[in-house]
Amino acid sequence: MSSRRTTDRERRESLSYETVDLGVLVIGAGAAGARTAIELVERGVAPEELLVIGKRSHGDAHTTWARGGINGALGTHDPVDDWTVHAADTINEGHFLNDPAKVETVTRRMPDLLRELDGWGMPFSRTDENEIDQRYFGAQSFRRTAFAGDHTGESLLQTLIGRAQELSVPYRENVFVTRLLTDDDWVLGAAGYDMETGEFLLFEADVVVLAAGGYTSLYHRHSSRDDENTGDGPALAYQAGAQLMDVEFVQFHPTGMVGARYGDEWDGRLVTEAVRGEGGRLFNSDGERFMERYSPGQMELDARDVVARAIAREIDEGRGTDAGGVYLDISHRDRSFIQDRLPRMYERFAELGVDMATDPVEVAPTAHYGMGGVVVDETGETDIDGLYAIGETMAGVHGANRLGGNSLAETIAFGAVAGEAIAGRLARRHDSERGERTVLHDRAAIHFADLDRLVRSDGSYDPAALMDELRDLLWAHAGILRDEESLSVGLDELAAIRRRASDLAVDGPTSRSFEFVMNLAFALDVAEALLRGAAMRTESRGAHARTDYPDRDEDWQRNIRMTRDAVGAMRLETTPVAAPSDDVQAALDAGYELDYHQLE
Ligand code: FUM
Repeated sequence: MSSRRTTDRERRESLSYETVDLGVLVIGAGAAGARTAIELVERGVAPEELLVIGKRSHGDAHTTWARGGINGALGTHDPVDDWTVHAADTINEGHFLNDPAKVETVTRRMPDLLRELDGWGMPFSRTDENEIDQRYFGAQSFRRTAFAGDHTGESLLQTLIGRAQELSVPYRENVFVTRLLTDDDWVLGAAGYDMETGEFLLFEADVVVLAAGGYTSLYHRHSSRDDENTGDGPALAYQAGAQLMDVEFVQFHPTGMVGARYGDEWDGRLVTEAVRGEGGRLFNSDGERFMERYSPGQMELDARDVVARAIAREIDEGRGTDAGGVYLDISHRDRSFIQDRLPRMYERFAELGVDMATDPVEVAPTAHYGMGGVVVDETGETDIDGLYAIGETMAGVHGANRLGGNSLAETIAFGAVAGEAIAGRLARRHDSERGERTVLHDRAAIHFADLDRLVRSDGSYDPAALMDELRDLLWAHAGILRDEESLSVGLDELAAIRRRASDLAVDGPTSRSFEFVMNLAFALDVAEALLRGAAMRTESRGAHARTDYPDRDEDWQRNIRMTRDAVGAMRLETTPVAAPSDDVQAALDAGYELDYHQLE
């Protein structure tokens, strides 16, 4: 009998994987990915040149959880509203950290893009005159949030899927992308695996679009499902060498459901801002409408950071409910009005035994949106040639705090912009431009060999448990209120989790534990960027509230960028913010503001 050790090289060479050759790979099957694919095909890219992939079943993306509306200055009710005022509101509430050019891209384009969606059959709620209706949303000077009841994201995604199907856009479900493959700052494709079969997958592509969402599921209490928004998009880009920016800015939505009252499966899920946009009022356990103390002008419709901090303070100071929330009450509105404007909320709470037409619901802040993400140019392209990042994966539009209704707007606007740019690029493409295939296969083989080892690893730690620890850590140390000492403890604890993450127990390639391993690898980098950015930013601005630096510091009107250096360490640097255009500056100078009391 003879035996011989298998070398790493031999193991690599014996690993099989499926190769898919494409012009464009879109990672993420939500609104941003779908809108990009539609634009590509409408601009002449053959459907068989592209593929949209997602981790879930087709049509079940994170977009469906954005409920209350999508912004665009149609001026249905308030004709004085226009894109410049929308841009001014966005920059004002972003506390002047937004990239004004990106804000303009979104706000200028949205009126036409909303009409286009209408033409594709989006079931917008309508006025008596059959115009697209618009409601109030937090901190916006005018009613500019178009909506489909309180299921706007769901209806938007269905509309986009319908349009994509008309154009024969191909989709593939249950694909987990684990690594982007690059050469000399040029994207070559992506590697991953089929979550149902465990087979390794290699996508060769001229262009890769990351439309894979944000990172708020890294918090203990969050509005998404646990396995979406785990930081895949930003982390894939960062690990490939692209820059991140503004990751310290996390939006805590004021009104998440309270698990102790409605059951753990509902903990943190969104009670849409539309409830407040339609007149809902917040009360503490003393029956006091407490927003009168915090924001007498804008009340419950002040910016999300202001309302979230107010609710957190009421709870911390003992004026919360027994279940740990405050009350949100819209029972002064007619039942038929609530059923018409907020049908999903009405139904959900009815199933949980609460009649919104007679009783309040209990809410508390929940992590909802990461303003930070990947640094991109005006077309959505990163520093890596051919790699685009759009939707919640990108940075720049929202600054230090996002307006409700601007996330769906960003997905649509940057989906269209990136699709346009990529279609032009493919039309100009020469075969010689394509990166070296041998390099791609070599890199993929090394990565698959690493994954293969991981899949069979028999370490000491459960990846799901480490992910839970990380979620608790961010909630405790980088939550609504932050300070130096707590952030520093958070960083130490993160380093300890990272050490244990090199000794994991995995149950095979189709197991949940393998997914958690991958989630954890992304989450650790994003969490480090978040904690380090938050520690470095020694001021309070928008959603980043430091108790040891309670004021805004004008010297800090800078973005923090995070880059991975040659040895894999994270480097932080700051860059200045550009000035708004004259048109937008004029709207800022005009000083428009929401007047809440028109609602009463
Ligand atoms: O409250 C909501 O319906 C959320 C909307 C958004 O985040 O844009």
